[in-house]
Amino acid sequence: MAGSLIGGLIADGWNPANIHVSDTDSAQLDRLAERFPVRTTNDNRTAVADADVVVLAVKPQVMEDVARGIASSVAERRPLIVSIAAGITEPTLRHWLGDDTAIVRCMPNTPAMVQSGATAMYANTRVSDEQRSIAESILRAVGIVIWVDDEAMMDAVTALSGSGPAYLFLFIEALQDAGRELGISDETAYLLALQTAFGAAKMALESEENAATLRQRVTSPGGTTERAINTLHEGGFRELVSRALHAAAERSRELSREFGSKQ
Ligand SMILES: NC(=O)c1ccc[n+]([C@@H]2O[C@H](COP(=O)([O-])OP(=O)(O)OC[C@H]3O[C@@H](n4cnc5c(N)ncnc54)[C@H](OP(=O)(O)O)[C@@H]3O)[C@@H](O)[C@H]2O)c1
Repeated sequence: MAGSLIGGLIADGWNPANIHVSDTDSAQLDRLAERFPVRTTNDNRTAVADADVVVLAVKPQVMEDVARGIASSVAERRPLIVSIAAGITEPTLRHWLGDDTAIVRCMPNTPAMVQSGATAMYANTRVSDEQRSIAESILRAVGIVIWVDDEAMMDAVTALSGSGPAYLFLFIEALQDAGRELGISDETAYLLALQTAFGAAKMALESEENAATLRQRVTSPGGTTERAINTLHEGGFRELVSRALHAAAERSRELSREFGSKQ
């Protein structure tokens, strides 16, 4: 995720010399330095020392060590902290980093890797308007950004867009399998399913109509689409999607409680 963000920032015109990257994995740093002329270090405190903005992009499991390790530098310099770690709440980060820390918590998704991500962001009360707009411009480098006022919404966003790419991949797999059953070659079925998903999303993004209207327009009475859609409805498609998202949101809440309880 950090690599995608760095690529997006540089493509957006940010000066790579102002981007300091820290990673415990030297091979990872070497690969990154080959792609972008950023400054690299193995020491998180060195990376943070002169920073106005610190993006935390490590796995949730190692976040406590990383946050506690930079807490003294953060207290001294008071940079904006932008965390993209799933499940680590703002109070938990503040507990590790210091009570006065300005924190923006983000939930991006993997299409950020192709600059087509969807990120929800939540800012605590210590974040200034200027810091808010800096945080937004960082995540906008890899896709669209929306703000939420209530941190609890991050669990819902995790369920929808955070985990969402996997649901769509599953739907594409299912289309491919069904296409194969109908006699289409595997490769062709995959390509048709993929381009159909891409085309439908592009069409909806560029249209002023909502998805329901676009769907109704391609569903002629008595036609093939209507029969397929009816079959999906009869099979409980909407209820199943709803149950899946509720389950994901509940898992997100559980994970936040697990990380929070380690304070
Ligand atoms: N991938 C997604 O779709 C997605 C979506 C939303 C949010 N996120 C969040 O984004 C964060 C990063 O995910 P990712 O998939 O990019 O993880 P990742 O590939 O594991 O990248 C994290 C990097 O941080 C390094 N690292 C580990 N410990 C460190 C330390 N103490 N100090 C500095 N660097 C350290 C890791 O090195 P090693 O490989 O040696 O451990 C790795 O290179 C996670 O918190 C995740 O929850 C990801």
